[in-house]
Amino acid sequence: DVGESEMTFFPGYTTPTLGYNGPYLGPTIKVRNGENIDITVNNNLKQRTSVHWHGLHVPAEWDGGPHQEINPGGTWNPRFTINQPAATLWYHPHAMGLTGEHAYMGLAGLFVIEDEVSDNLSIPDTYGVDDFPIVLQDRRFFDDGRFAYAQSMMDVMHGVIGNYLLVNGSLWPNLDVPNGLIRLRVLNGSNSSIYRVSFSDNRSFHQIATDGGFQEAPVLINELTLSAGERSEILVNFGADQPGSKTSLLVEQYTGNKFESMQFTVQNGKNNSLSVPNDLTSVEWLKEEDASKVRTFKMETMSRGMGMMRRGGRLTINGRNMDLGYINERIKLNSTEIWEIENHSAMMMQLPHSMHLHDVQFQILDRNGEKPALKERGRKDTVLLLPGERVRIIARFEDYTGVYMYHCHLLEHEDNGMMGQFEVVS
Ligand code: C2O
Ligand code: CU
Ligand code: CU
Repeated sequence: DVGESEMTFFPGYTTPTLGYNGPYLGPTIKVRNGENIDITVNNNLKQRTSVHWHGLHVPAEWDGGPHQEINPGGTWNPRFTINQPAATLWYHPHAMGLTGEHAYMGLAGLFVIEDEVSDNLSIPDTYGVDDFPIVLQDRRFFDDGRFAYAQSMMDVMHGVIGNYLLVNGSLWPNLDVPNGLIRLRVLNGSNSSIYRVSFSDNRSFHQIATDGGFQEAPVLINELTLSAGERSEILVNFGADQPGSKTSLLVEQYTGNKFESMQFTVQNGKNNSLSVPNDLTSVEWLKEEDASKVRTFKMETMSRGMGMMRRGGRLTINGRNMDLGYINERIKLNSTEIWEIENHSAMMMQLPHSMHLHDVQFQILDRNGEKPALKERGRKDTVLLLPGERVRIIARFEDYTGVYMYHCHLLEHEDNGMMGQFEVVS
C-alpha cells in the first residue's frame, strides 16, 4: 500500500510523509533468483504514482516506470520471475514529473535477491543481526517540521540538497553491532546528492558488491563514493574493537557538507568467526569486440535561458528533453552495445550527473579513457559522471523487448527532462 502518513523526526514536530506499508520508506523485499513474484500495489495517494524496481531485469510491462502509473485509488499487480544473480536493488516511485517529490516524502525500499552463490559464501547474512540495510538520504525541513521539498530553479539545477541526514529514516541513529564482521548494504537513496562514505576512525573495509551483485573479489577501501541511486555492499570488521566502543559513519556531500550520521556501538559477543573471503563470484565480462553498436549520450545543462529551465528543456540528453511520445533509441534484442556517456556541462554549470539504465546491468569499460577503479568493476546500473567526465559502458540487452527508460538519477534532473526511452525490439 502506498499511503500518506507522518513521522516525528524532531521531538514536538510532525512531518507529513509517504510510505509503503508504513509511515516512511518500505519493507525490505527479499526474493530468490528464479522465484515467481506477484505483488499488489494499492495507490492510496491523491496523486498518480508508480513503483519501479531499480536494477531489476524484468519485462518492460512490469518495470514500473512512467508507462505503468497507477491512478489515485488504483491497483497494479506486477507478476514476474526473478532472473538475475544475488544483489541489493531497490524500489521507488517513477511517475512523470513526480518522482523527486514522492521519493523525498519517503517512498523507497530495498529489494534483495539471494541465490546459490550468496548461500554458499561465508559472509554475514542474518538480516538485522550482522547484515544491515543503510539507506542514506539527506533532507531539509521547514521550521514547522515539514520536509522542505520544492523545485525552485536552483533546486532543479543542483538538486534538492539537504542539511540533515537520515539513515534508514532516522536522524543520528545508533546501531548495536556484534564484536565481529558485519555487512552493510548501502544505498544512496537521496534525491540528488553524491556521497562520500567513510568511518570516523578512517578504518578500511571491503566492498563485496556493486549495484547489481557480487564483485569477483573483495576490494579494500577506506571510502566509498555513491551517486544518487547507486548501491554498495561492504564488510566491516568490528572484531578488534573493544565492546562498548563507538564508531560513526561519516557521510560527506559533493557540495562539502559533512555528516556524522550513524553510530555503531560494539556489543559484547561475536556474531560468528567469519573472515573476508578471497573470492566471491565470477563475473561474465562483456567484450568490446562483441558490441554491435556504439551510441553516444551527451548529458547537458545549458546556462542560457535559465528562466526556461523548469519544465523548459534545459536539462537534456543529446539535446532532447524527455518526451513520452518519442523513442530515443531502438536496440536489437540479444545485442551488446557500448554507450559512451559524457557530462557536458557548460562553464557556469558544473553539475554532476548519475546515469541510470533500466532493464540491464552494465559494466564500465573506462572512465575518461582509463580503466575504472576496482570498486567500479562489476555489475552496475547507475554511474556517476562528474563535470566533464566521459564514461564508456557496455551492456547486453536480452530476454525482454519493450520500452525502458534511461535517465539522470538526480531526481530533480530526471523530473525536468533529463531522461529518454530505449525500446528493445526483436
Ligand atoms: Cu531508480 Cu528510473 O530509476
Ligand atoms: Cu531504474
Ligand atoms: Cu543530472
